[in-house]
Amino acid sequence: MTTSPFLIMNNIEKAFNGVPVLKKVSLTVVEGEIHALLGENGAGKSTLMNILGGVHQPDHGSIQIKGLDVKMSNPRVSQEQGVSFIHQELNVVADLRVYENMFLGSELRSKLGFLKVEEMCRQTSEILSKLGVDINPKEYVRNLETSYKQLIEISKALLHKSKLIIMDEPTTSLAEHEVKRLFELMRNLKKSGVSIIYISHKLKEIKEICDTYTVLRDGELVGTGSIKNENLDTITKLMVGKSISQERLIQRHSFGPVVLEVNDLSSQGLYKNITFTLRKGEILGFTGLAGDGRTELFESLFGYRKKYTGQIKINNQLVKIDHPRKALEAGLALVPKDRKENAIIKDLSVIHNMSLSSIGHFEKAGFIQEKKEKDRFHYYKEKLNIKVHNPRITIDKLSGGNQQKVIIAKWLEVDTDIIIFDNPTQGIDVGAKHEIYQQIVSLAEQGKAVIILSSEAPEVQKVCHHIYCMYQGEITARLKGEEATEDEIMSYATGSKREAANIG
Ligand SMILES: Nc1ncnc2c1ncn2[C@@H]1O[C@H](COP(=O)(O)OP(=O)(O)OP(=O)(O)O)[C@@H](O)[C@H]1O
Ligand SMILES: [Mg+2]
Repeated sequence: MTTSPFLIMNNIEKAFNGVPVLKKVSLTVVEGEIHALLGENGAGKSTLMNILGGVHQPDHGSIQIKGLDVKMSNPRVSQEQGVSFIHQELNVVADLRVYENMFLGSELRSKLGFLKVEEMCRQTSEILSKLGVDINPKEYVRNLETSYKQLIEISKALLHKSKLIIMDEPTTSLAEHEVKRLFELMRNLKKSGVSIIYISHKLKEIKEICDTYTVLRDGELVGTGSIKNENLDTITKLMVGKSISQERLIQRHSFGPVVLEVNDLSSQGLYKNITFTLRKGEILGFTGLAGDGRTELFESLFGYRKKYTGQIKINNQLVKIDHPRKALEAGLALVPKDRKENAIIKDLSVIHNMSLSSIGHFEKAGFIQEKKEKDRFHYYKEKLNIKVHNPRITIDKLSGGNQQKVIIAKWLEVDTDIIIFDNPTQGIDVGAKHEIYQQIVSLAEQGKAVIILSSEAPEVQKVCHHIYCMYQGEITARLKGEEATEDEIMSYATGSKREAANIG
């Protein structure tokens, strides 16, 4: 393997509306290395990559590929230079089929100009199967789970036989199992001389897969070096500017009455015989792989999916929820995963995105009480360290993680008895993650009942009283949060182990 630099970015500067977000940032990536790009939410990681990918132009600075100056004037130029970009916000087209997404803009055609559909499907299947994904290449992307969409986005980059692949938080929707497969693939790419820039807030992943790192803080380069020589605490400190509390969250151990009772719920092809209860003050976790059915299960509870058998009781009353509005009236809130598709309203300001679901709190005689709204916003801005200069700008101008923080804040304000969070800390930096867990625990302390759906075992271990593992639509185990080990959770979630009947 050679060690010559494939990429050098030199003193890159960038400002948006006069606010500098990158200040003389340099980055060198050697051939065949996996380089971690680290930093808190809003540090400038995606912006730097958008400059490399030709999405944004730098105000100053230069880029060299293999020693030659290049100007990445648009994404196509960047791709021609051998750079592929897996975007943080998924970039797949819902109304196209899987293979059409894969070959969008580079369709295979016969000499006569006909599309070679079967050949594209074959290549699509080949790459997907390397990632361990079994989906029909002709399936419409809109019908797929988020994690599959993410896997398609990754496969798309692999198809182009690039020399440098930018992975901007590629694993936010993936379960451990899928992450392992991706890492295997990354190691193979590395062997063949491909370089990877890897952005993630999951430090365990960084330690496992990356060779080198660069840390940004508030748009400035604060450190770079070899991962092996550094321990993760040092790197975290560089990112956050302080040490992160590792303390376990303190939880209550006595609960109130049952508020939610789910009895033998089934929906064909999605989930089967689901039975569990949730009590006031309790936090339950549901975890599993892609296709485990947990998202669909809770979508049914919330009235997004109507076809199911079995019973749902809220506060001892049998309910049949056929519309999300009814769910809210019955005291149930669902924080959807995948903020881009389900949660944010792009053209609305940051502050209004936050107050949207709890507008009643800020309203008096038909008027929004702006001061109260602003005070709550500032409370969360500080608590969750939301980086925003002006809360009146549209939310799409925030970094991915900061958008997510606003969404979480919005739901922390909602006053329902039961709150379900689907993948709540997607893309959140290590510092704010702990703060969000803390906020969730304090909701339970105030007597709310909480359910967390997550593909990250450490997340459910940390905050949940009980963990339900699901595999292919069925509950395979109910474990005590504080006792469950990651390996145990994994073996139930991959279906290699299963508890005796009558879980629930
Ligand atoms: N199009 C834009 N207009 C205005 N400001 C922007 C725009 N894109 C990014 N910013 C700002 O630039 C800063 C850096 O954002 P960036 O998306 O690069 O952060 P990041 O390090 O990728 O964070 P995260 O981990 O949350 O994804 C943020 O303060 C963000 O609000
Ligand atoms: Mg980003």
